[in-house]
Amino acid sequence: MTPTLIDLRSDTVTTPSPGMRRAMADAEVGDDVLDGDPTTRRLEERIAELLGTGDALFFPSGTQANQTGLALVTEPGTELLLEGNAHLVHSEMAGVAALSGVSRTRTAPPAGACSMPRESTG
Ligand SMILES: Cc1ncc(COP(=O)(O)O)c(C=O)c1O
Repeated sequence: MTPTLIDLRSDTVTTPSPGMRRAMADAEVGDDVLDGDPTTRRLEERIAELLGTGDALFFPSGTQANQTGLALVTEPGTELLLEGNAHLVHSEMAGVAALSGVSRTRTAPPAGACSMPRESTG
């Protein structure tokens, strides 16, 4: 059996299959302001279960997810080290400065892999 290749580089390199299109067309929808969309809620519950977290939150945009995640894990006045080709560098402009008060510094780690310590020893 040939393994199925799933390309997770970006949503932009994939297109929905006929089955995915059918699932979207047939999905139960609700009011995501009033009481939540049932399909989205089920997706969030499923992801939380898979990841073993208390909750999960679906973001319809990668930029929104990046900016929200950074706001949660950074503090204003700190610096964010980014690989030079990161989406945050080439497409999100000053979003992280405007929304989280964090400055960006580009790095050029070998093969894009950072090996810096996660916590400061100073
Ligand atoms: C790593 C990464 N972050 C963010 C985005 C932006 O996603 P969106 O266009 O949904 O805001 C992309 C889009 O391809 C991405 O690859």
